[in-house]
Amino acid sequence: MDKNEILAILKDWNDWEGQQNIGILRDSYLNRLEGLIQGSNQVITITGPRRAGKSYIMRQMGRRLLEKGVKKENILFVNFEDPRFTSLNTKLLTQIYDIYKGFLSPTDTPYLFLDEVQEVKEWEKWVRMMHELQKAKIIVSGSNAHLLSRELGTLLTGRHLDLTVFPLSFAEYLIFNGVEIKNDFDIAGKEVEIDGLLHKYVEKGSFPEVALSVKKTEVLLNYFDDLLTKDLLKRFRVRKTPAMKTLIKYYLSNASNLMSFTSAGKFLQVHTNTVERFSGYFEDVYLIFLLKRFSFKIKEQEKSPRKAYTIDTGLCNALGFRFSENSGRLAENIVFLALKQQQIIDPQMELFYWKDVHHREVDFVIKEGTTVKSLIQVCWNMKDEKTRNRELRSLQKAMRELKVSKALIITEDTEGEERVNGFAVQTVPLWKWLLSEEGAICL
Ligand SMILES: Nc1ncnc2c1ncn2[C@@H]1O[C@H](COP(=O)(O)OP(=O)(O)OP(=O)(O)O)[C@@H](O)[C@H]1O
Ligand SMILES: [Mg+2]
Repeated sequence: MDKNEILAILKDWNDWEGQQNIGILRDSYLNRLEGLIQGSNQVITITGPRRAGKSYIMRQMGRRLLEKGVKKENILFVNFEDPRFTSLNTKLLTQIYDIYKGFLSPTDTPYLFLDEVQEVKEWEKWVRMMHELQKAKIIVSGSNAHLLSRELGTLLTGRHLDLTVFPLSFAEYLIFNGVEIKNDFDIAGKEVEIDGLLHKYVEKGSFPEVALSVKKTEVLLNYFDDLLTKDLLKRFRVRKTPAMKTLIKYYLSNASNLMSFTSAGKFLQVHTNTVERFSGYFEDVYLIFLLKRFSFKIKEQEKSPRKAYTIDTGLCNALGFRFSENSGRLAENIVFLALKQQQIIDPQMELFYWKDVHHREVDFVIKEGTTVKSLIQVCWNMKDEKTRNRELRSLQKAMRELKVSKALIITEDTEGEERVNGFAVQTVPLWKWLLSEEGAICL
């Protein structure tokens, strides 16, 4: 490519002559990313579900560095999805880097932000070389299906740290809707508004673009198509398109349900092995999560059915499932997503569901090391006496068995604390839990 062509593209993506639109700041990710960049000399990879906001966070980080005093000549941002780039290979990377150096003469080790890097053939070789020669601090991101974290492990073995970006937490969702909560005082007087937004969050999901768009369902249907065609069918070279589509819809309509590959296969008339293989792909691209049953015996853990959760409750609704009577399941999915994000940050934390032979269930068991730290039950309607008693009985049984003295019930709107046979059970509304330290990562 011609030098001036490249320079024109670089100018469009950098704050050298004007300011890029960087959207609404996601401070908790920026703080973590900043920590990773400053605290190590590793390559930083930004991964996560499609459309979660990875590219925006990258650009926001560039801006933050500028605000913290890094000179603009020491930052280069390249988006390889720009259609003006041709022949995307390592030669182009070197050319881009040389043109940038010639144009701006960096005064310090530059920060290189390489977005949609999967577009460049053998990018990892170039990144490894630059990293080894300590020529730049490198932050890469890309569409997740092509930059799977387990593949990155082999491409950049021992040389990278990962930041996993999820769609919006509830605290972020509030900010995207103009409601900022920094402490308990900010909540006072806003409960009704927050509760309204929680219901929207559960119904429409948490993708940033969806949060801001008036055409939420349309955006979600587009995401579904992209995910299916670009991420799954193309990436994994799948030919059984109808089977894959049916299985995704099955997962989306079974959010928070127990899942067995065999029974799903029978129901959908798809071979069990295909169900298992496709489910693995869905997990790779963060479309679904399969939660294991708690057991002290690893073998039992492995052979028990999984509980299935999805990345976005909005996707479940957009695909035409009537969830109005099942909002409890969507709420449970929301709780799972919040816990999953905590787990990504805290590698010590392990997450399971619990079930005994009498089919008593507890939604979440949180374990750290060898101890079970807490139990969480999501019970949307605590006012129904029968349901309430059933949930309490399950909790009690699990508390006794797992030797936990405290448990939490997350509800739609009930709050309180009670002692049941010497055990302390706290009840908290979902919005409050999501904004509390236990539920939030973004306060
Ligand atoms: N912080 C933000 N402020 C405002 N809008 C945002 C923000 N983050 C994401 N968006 C919206 O969501 C869309 C997707 O964000 P982004 O491109 O950053 O996601 P991504 O994770 O990089 O997606 P992909 O996997 O497709 O590369 C953006 O086009 C924008 O509409
Ligand atoms: Mg992106």
